[in-house]
Amino acid sequence: MAVSKETYPPGIVVSAAIDLGTTFSGYAFAFRDEPYRVYASTWHSKTTAYLVANKAPTTVLLRPDKQFYAFGLDAEEKYSELTDEEAHQGWYYFQNFKMELYRHEKLSREAKLKDIEGKEMSAMTIFTLVIKYLRDKLIEQVRRSKTGIEEHEIFWVLTVPAIWSDAAKQFMREAATKAGINNTQLKLVLEPEAASLFGQANYTQRDVQAGGIAELKHFRAGQKYIIADLGGGTADIATHEVLPDGTLREIYRATGDELGGNRVNLAFLRFLDNLVSKEVMDYFRHSARGHYLEFMRELK
Ligand SMILES: Nc1ncnc2c1ncn2[C@@H]1O[C@H](COP(=O)(O)OP(=O)(O)OP(=O)(O)O)[C@@H](O)[C@H]1O
Ligand SMILES: [Mg+2]
Repeated sequence: MAVSKETYPPGIVVSAAIDLGTTFSGYAFAFRDEPYRVYASTWHSKTTAYLVANKAPTTVLLRPDKQFYAFGLDAEEKYSELTDEEAHQGWYYFQNFKMELYRHEKLSREAKLKDIEGKEMSAMTIFTLVIKYLRDKLIEQVRRSKTGIEEHEIFWVLTVPAIWSDAAKQFMREAATKAGINNTQLKLVLEPEAASLFGQANYTQRDVQAGGIAELKHFRAGQKYIIADLGGGTADIATHEVLPDGTLREIYRATGDELGGNRVNLAFLRFLDNLVSKEVMDYFRHSARGHYLEFMRELK
């Protein structure tokens, strides 16, 4: 199999992965002695008791003095509270920024991102904050599962869309390094390839036996398949074949496009602009920001 004890580099005890998504982000990890037992992040809402998920919204909130305040549901709930109290001015609220790395033709360390009010901050700072937050949470959870784990015993994987340029990948690597991840203990993996390995490690092939009984099995040697990771920002596609030793051969290079679920959300917003007029929608966006964000959350 592609993932096993033997594939861990010497001295590494934990394999840790961060998935920074356009809409949602999360992390997962496994220990060398039990490589198939995957522990994933879980996020709880502070205001809605039943709201629990493995991925959190990729939302960052900074104080007016640009200090990190919260990430994910916590960021959304706090900002919503601030808008209710009309106290949100000056705070920095970032959402939907991952695809900016794809859009920036001349991506540089000086690239800027605009928050919800149009205030600018360095893209490197925002990406670094998100990776650092997820990294710290992951390490905390690793240490809760097993005490005494040192940072040099963790190998990190950061997923990136298949369609990203080398510059965008390099940008992510730099942000991860700034977030405290040792460059020599980090591998960038294409999102559809990670999804494919997950499929390979799990029972994904449905075999119908005589009598109509279905059984789930690993893919057999020679099985070819196309895997599509349909995210918020991108649709990422990989085409693989399972080799006799269980490893994977790439039949065609990983590919994809900027065709994520956000495109549907944008089309829906355009539809509403036409239905009730752009002026009304702009008024809704600016004058009832909390309600507008809640509405957008429902749409996600
Ligand atoms: N039932 C559904 N039908 C259509 N779209 C959906 C459905 N459920 C979720 N989505 C869309 O899926 C997207 C979120 O998926 P996912 O968490 O895989 O994205 P992501 O990892 O944040 O993005 P990316 O990998 O592109 O950076 C959102 O845009 C959401 O609107
Ligand atoms: Mg994704």
